[in-house]
Amino acid sequence: DVTNERKMRDSMRFYLQKVLVAQEEERKRIARDLHDDTGQSLLLLTHRLDAISADPKNKLSKPVQEKLSELHSLAVESLDSLRRYAQELRPAILDDIGLIASLEWIADNLIAEDGIDVNVQVDMRERDLPHEAQLTLFRIAQEALVNIKRHAQASEVVIRLEAAAGKLTMVITDNGKGFKVPMPLSQLGSTEKLGLLGMQERAQLLSGSLNIQSELGKGTAIIVEVPLEE
Ligand SMILES: Nc1ncnc2c1ncn2[C@@H]1O[C@H](COP(=O)(O)OP(=O)(O)OP(=O)(O)O)[C@@H](O)[C@H]1O
Ligand SMILES: [Mg+2]
Repeated sequence: DVTNERKMRDSMRFYLQKVLVAQEEERKRIARDLHDDTGQSLLLLTHRLDAISADPKNKLSKPVQEKLSELHSLAVESLDSLRRYAQELRPAILDDIGLIASLEWIADNLIAEDGIDVNVQVDMRERDLPHEAQLTLFRIAQEALVNIKRHAQASEVVIRLEAAAGKLTMVITDNGKGFKVPMPLSQLGSTEKLGLLGMQERAQLLSGSLNIQSELGKGTAIIVEVPLEE
């Protein structure tokens, strides 16, 4: 019956919010561990390898020197990708230089790795947005871009941020294949797809809303609206 269904939905909502907060904490912890432990070990490894190669007392043969240098490159590459991974988990740039630079950073990654043309357009003042809101919007954009990468087959993406009339609007548009949007989105909960649903929940955590406009063959627009504090 209706009351029961409502209760179920409320409790699902409650848990999803807890999950989102826990997920953020967990990501922070993993990013820190990766950076502090694994990152430090890899750095040490590169230094040790350097020291072995550089010490004439070791009298290394040419082939051994070449092997060492290969190992060194490998360790440096691992360190690079580990740093990138830690950044994605907990973008330090978000804390340092804010939402817009972070969006430009994921846009650049998408351009470099997937050849998708991403354009970030901003018509707002970042300092009007509390840090919490910046993180939430960043996560929504990140998830939207993951979806575009995985499902859309798009060649162009526009991320637009605009503040007007007491609210902030973020629109992420792709020119990909589009899809039939499930109504309501909570339907997706039973299929273990949590991307769109999580994006919606995050928007609602900021007392905002998420809308999806998608047309088969024409692409998708994800529209997030969040009230701005006066
Ligand atoms: N930009 C997009 N273009 C085309 N289809 C999309 C787009 N975004 C989402 N979809 C469709 O909507 C579905 C639901 O997306 P959602 O992010 O909720 O789940 P998912 O990506 O399949 O799994 P995950 O839980 O890992 O995110 C996708 O499976 C895909 O079919
Ligand atoms: Mg997804």
